[in-house]
Amino acid sequence: MKPLRIILCDMNKTVTQLWTDFIQKAATKNPNLVYIHHGDFESLIKKLKNNNVNKNKRLYSVVSPGNSFGYLGGGFDLALYNYFGGAPFEKWFRKQLENEYKPVGSITTVDLQKCKDKTLNPTRDGMNYIVHCPTMITPNGPIFNPSEPMKTGVEPVFDATWNSLRYAPEDTDAMIISGLCTGYAAVPESLSCKSMIFAIRLYLCDGLLSSELKNILIMHFLGYPYKAYFPEECRDECKRVGIDLEKLRTFNALTDSIDSILPPHLIIE
Ligand code: ADP
Ligand code: NA
Ligand code: NA
Repeated sequence: MKPLRIILCDMNKTVTQLWTDFIQKAATKNPNLVYIHHGDFESLIKKLKNNNVNKNKRLYSVVSPGNSFGYLGGGFDLALYNYFGGAPFEKWFRKQLENEYKPVGSITTVDLQKCKDKTLNPTRDGMNYIVHCPTMITPNGPIFNPSEPMKTGVEPVFDATWNSLRYAPEDTDAMIISGLCTGYAAVPESLSCKSMIFAIRLYLCDGLLSSELKNILIMHFLGYPYKAYFPEECRDECKRVGIDLEKLRTFNALTDSIDSILPPHLIIE
């Protein structure tokens, strides 16, 4: 598998700083795999456009951390709304979602090449897909509840990131992702960024861990350790790749570092 380049973009400095802290050690082997941009979406597009000059034209997908009805009225989606052409684009986009309710947890890939409206021209700078990944039904309030940080913070953010990467279109070179659930959804930046980077680091160790061991790591990260789902082979694999079984058993995503269950040397080159 050719790994997709991941471009993390957010205008919230805390978010980009936390991404950098959580990815740092792991990404040093190949900084091209993950690129972190502090700034708004417009400034990222400008930068990518400049980099594309004189090079093979790259194709980009962007994740919409939206709502279940596909309106692009706020947060990062508002930047997409403005960039892609406002109300007429939103109308076209919602039509691609069949004007249908998309549950949180679902992914719909919208192919921008299908847009025949020359005045919108959404692929003008190399964007070819929007990956619609609703993080909330409507923005009527935060999803985060401080008394349930795992269930309402860590889990939805991990799932959204994992799902976006899992359904990444094949004919795209890079995927642009903003902080997930860090806006309207009001998940604290530290929880969101840790959960995003854990999902991204799992993605980046593709081929280095069995999918069964990835399942085990996810189960523990999300706080659902379940002995019966932990095959003996995976214990041996943990020892082989340097994952401490005791740290895994007691792992707490709210307080423990990613490195304690996913050693930084585990990363594709
Ligand atoms: P969610 O509902 O998942 O919380 P939001 O769209 O409200 O999604 O916010 C997600 C993230 O997008 C936030 O971290 C916010 O700082 C960032 N963001 C909002 N607008 C922009 C923009 N124009 N450019 C870059 N990042 C943005
Ligand atoms: Na959202
Ligand atoms: Na949004």
